[in-house]
Amino acid sequence: MNLDEIIRNKITENNNFIGFDEFMSMALYHPGKGYYSNGSKKFGRDGDFITAPETSDLFGFCIAKQCKQILDSFPYILEFGAGNGTLACQILFYLAKHNQLPKYYYIVELSADLKDRQRKLIEKVLPEVLDRIIWLNELPNEFEGVVIANEVIDAIPAKRIKKMGGKFHEQGVCIKDDSLEYAFSSLNINLDDYSIPDSLEEGYTTEVNIQARGWIHSVYSMMKRGVVLIIDYGMDRDTFYHPQRVEGTLRCYSQHKASENPFENIGMQDITTSVNFSDLADASKEAGFNIEGYCTQAMFLISLGIQEFLSEEKDSDQKISYAQEIKQLILPSTMGESFKVLALKKDFHGALVCFKEQNLIDKIL
Ligand SMILES: C[S@@+](CC[C@H](N)C(=O)[O-])C[C@H]1O[C@@H](n2cnc3c(N)ncnc32)[C@H](O)[C@@H]1O
Repeated sequence: MNLDEIIRNKITENNNFIGFDEFMSMALYHPGKGYYSNGSKKFGRDGDFITAPETSDLFGFCIAKQCKQILDSFPYILEFGAGNGTLACQILFYLAKHNQLPKYYYIVELSADLKDRQRKLIEKVLPEVLDRIIWLNELPNEFEGVVIANEVIDAIPAKRIKKMGGKFHEQGVCIKDDSLEYAFSSLNINLDDYSIPDSLEEGYTTEVNIQARGWIHSVYSMMKRGVVLIIDYGMDRDTFYHPQRVEGTLRCYSQHKASENPFENIGMQDITTSVNFSDLADASKEAGFNIEGYCTQAMFLISLGIQEFLSEEKDSDQKISYAQEIKQLILPSTMGESFKVLALKKDFHGALVCFKEQNLIDKIL
């Protein structure tokens, strides 16, 4: 059976309706057939989209600089959703160069195919650190250190909701005339946790990410002490629920083209939603975290001295590439402002260097 048939069977078994989160979960993570589990290329210029670590090593070097400050207290790093393994290599390369390798670098990854790619990349480019990397099948207990999640929350399946007859209904998926289509059912989740503005107009469609809130709680529970760095595209609540964003933030990506149709190329295109950082901050506070800061990716990288890598580089070709890569990472028209960084702390004292230049925490609290 192909993925399309598997999803159709699930819908049929469920009286012709499944929530969008369930559809997204199968489309992205069905073992062996979902977008992140099958062997398709995905990341990079000849894939479907480019993430910050795939854009430049400097991204990982800056994160490593921030890790270095925390590793002085706790010698462990845990990365969620490590993709191709590029960010892990960049971080470990930088830390090895500065004689501050973590005791262990844990990776929690849902996709068996990506775990395999991560291992192969590390074996190829940094074999000397392989024995420090541990792929975990479940979350650890009493973790002490730095947790990193780059572009992970946007890949966590979200529920879609639509305002109809003055109140929100769940937007799910059904089969109609042999095609997958949106369908609606009454809502069985409590939206009080999400502070959705009452003023949103009839027909307004948006997302709520219940699983992302659950993820924050699980991260809090697995940690004894440390810092969590969440980097992703997204915004504060007012911007997320902007009156003009009437169709929400759902996007699909295939070969660098964006679409809003999740029912085509199932298993061969990425499906993603923007992160509502105010919701994440609420869930983090509720779990028990202290919210250390929130800023744009540009200011995060500038605080961590991304320009110094350029000024210190001696090789002129490398200097030219670094200059172009920095633009890609920090310009507002590229990734600089649409991507944000949220840092959470549990029993960790000391201000993080990454908010030296900007902290917009008031926007999300
Ligand atoms: C958009 S990719 C980003 C990959 C990588 N972090 C990067 O920046 O290139 C999303 C990644 O998150 C993983 N993922 C999604 N949900 C996850 C979860 N709950 N736990 C661990 N990994 C997850 C996916 O399998 C995939 O590796």
